[in-house]
Amino acid sequence: MVQLSDKDFEMLRDFIYNICGIYFSNSKKYFLESRLKRRMEAVAAQSYQEYYACLKTVNGSATELKRLLDEITTNETCFFRNVPQLNALEQLLLPEIVAHKGKLGFRKIRVWSAGSSSGEEAYTLAMVLLEKRTALLKDWIIEIVGTDINETVLALAKEGVYNEYAVRNTPDYYLRKYFRQEEGGRYILAPEVKKLVSFSHVNLYDDNKMLFMKSFDFIFCANVLIYFDLASKSKIVQHFYNNLQPYGYFFVGQSESLHGVNDQFRTVHFPGGFTYKK
Ligand SMILES: C[S@@+](CC[C@H](N)C(=O)[O-])C[C@H]1O[C@@H](n2cnc3c(N)ncnc32)[C@H](O)[C@@H]1O
Repeated sequence: MVQLSDKDFEMLRDFIYNICGIYFSNSKKYFLESRLKRRMEAVAAQSYQEYYACLKTVNGSATELKRLLDEITTNETCFFRNVPQLNALEQLLLPEIVAHKGKLGFRKIRVWSAGSSSGEEAYTLAMVLLEKRTALLKDWIIEIVGTDINETVLALAKEGVYNEYAVRNTPDYYLRKYFRQEEGGRYILAPEVKKLVSFSHVNLYDDNKMLFMKSFDFIFCANVLIYFDLASKSKIVQHFYNNLQPYGYFFVGQSESLHGVNDQFRTVHFPGGFTYKK
């Protein structure tokens, strides 16, 4: 198969960037090349220009674009990935928001896992909130939304069946209470957890879609922004800012920050980490 020239790399990189905000720097050229090759083989494209034309044709381009996005996104995740965040949510931030909303007469908690991959983050949050159902969240409606651009991982999320690797950080208490282990070793998530979460396809770079993601008390966008350049990060984070309730909290991944990306959020520290508030 033909080598990816610098010109073709830039053409395809810019195309991808304009669709979803993911930016492939020059150091990622070989990664992109290997992923493009898989798709080119699948559609029998003989050159990068031919593949580009295939992505841009009206008929079938949407399907091929979805397949390409499925190839180029990194979907690494697991249950209970960031324990200090979960502890802060459970012990400090949730009680604060419940007290605040309770006073206003609202009894609904809305949580968004943006870039939810195969659902582990959204379901972890569901389990943590379910634990509060008998006391703090008694008679409260819990709505958790997981969104991703990758259709394949969204389908896995909806299925709710996981392997040993996905649950490797899950405390025994949660594993026993909210999973059923099949003979083959697969972990089947309890229906009561699945019921709290809905998954949908949202491209975080799509302004029209983002305008509809409203009124969240907690937004988690962990280990997603690392794939974007500064301009696309700023655009997406501005949407999160607008879509968060005035008293809500916005979380990024353990090694991420909004430094240089957004100066409207303020940092709130907790043991082992930090979060953002308007
Ligand atoms: C590394 S995973 C993070 C999963 C989870 N948030 C966590 O921290 O474990 C990043 C996810 O972001 C998704 N993603 C990347 N670009 C996106 C975009 N423009 N819109 C929506 N999701 C996107 C990828 O498909 C992938 O599933």
